[in-house]
Amino acid sequence: MAAQAEVFLVGATGLLGNRLTSAFLAKGATVRALVRPGATGEKKQALDALKAKGVELVEGDITDPTDRLAAAIGGAQTVVSAIQGGPDLIVDGQANLLTAAEQAGAARFVPSDFAIDITRLDDGDNFMIDWRRQAAAGFAGTPLGVLSVLNGAFVEVMVGFMDLIDWEKGTLSHWGNPDQPLDLTTVQDTAAYTAAAVLDPALTNGGTMRFAGEVVSMLHFHAAVERGTGRKLELRTLGTAEELRSEIEHRAKATQNPFDYVALQYQWCMVTGKGKFDSLDNDRYAEIKPTSVEEFVRGAGLGA
Ligand SMILES: NC(=O)c1ccc[n+]([C@@H]2O[C@H](COP(=O)([O-])OP(=O)(O)OC[C@H]3O[C@@H](n4cnc5c(N)ncnc54)[C@H](OP(=O)(O)O)[C@@H]3O)[C@@H](O)[C@H]2O)c1
Repeated sequence: MAAQAEVFLVGATGLLGNRLTSAFLAKGATVRALVRPGATGEKKQALDALKAKGVELVEGDITDPTDRLAAAIGGAQTVVSAIQGGPDLIVDGQANLLTAAEQAGAARFVPSDFAIDITRLDDGDNFMIDWRRQAAAGFAGTPLGVLSVLNGAFVEVMVGFMDLIDWEKGTLSHWGNPDQPLDLTTVQDTAAYTAAAVLDPALTNGGTMRFAGEVVSMLHFHAAVERGTGRKLELRTLGTAEELRSEIEHRAKATQNPFDYVALQYQWCMVTGKGKFDSLDNDRYAEIKPTSVEEFVRGAGLGA
């Protein structure tokens, strides 16, 4: 009988990481999670919930000395990062984690990519994606198989963080060509695809896997949100993709905080088609039946 797969996960208390723990456990893997010490309140409750699910918790930080991280990784074959943060974590922290994974003798490393097609973008298109490409360049030469999982945009982000929908005003605003196809996946489906790919013995050498729960145009997205919520939303066009680029440049000059315009950078990468997947790997895991935008919106009770 094959040994039970063991996954070491960083970011288990996060939006995606929490779903990843359930997805790995559902597939029979054991999960050891690196969690930051000193949790109180809701964070402490989240840790208790992870423990109750059967996740083994190890206290630490992705920036810990590699010896300590390697000891935490122990005998796990795969190290998965679902971390979020700046270049200190995405570039340097993940490089540190990979070194620790090498030291521990792990076979595979999954960086915290989980985005649109980062391989097709150029520096400056999106600063958060630049960090991920910078991190990937640093992984070259590792003996571990590096598996990058890409999911397009979370549906949750499209109905929230992107700021497209104003429920009070009853509007859905967008930039660019409303017929441009967009790759969208819920957090839960991203976790299910990631677990399937991570535990797929044929992918031990790594590679890039691209998944989308649904590929929809903005017009289709608008119609799906209307059907799912039962609400009419006026569709507003904010400008062309070129005008969006100018708006981003304008905001970049006006602020010290790039997070003020990162949602627009993601939108630009999507509405131009530059971050669009050329092909999908969904069929490899046909047992996963992803949630459509309409089903998600209805299930989440949005717009009430
Ligand atoms: N495609 C999309 O639309 C989309 C949208 C959102 C996110 N994502 C991607 O999904 C991935 C995960 O993002 P998320 O939104 O799930 O992140 P999140 O909710 O912010 O969670 C981040 C996790 O990282 C942990 N963490 C932070 N600093 C750490 C450190 N120094 N050492 C160890 N752990 C640390 C946090 O632990 P604590 O609980 O201790 O803070 C938390 O568990 C990222 O790659 C992100 O870019 C993609």
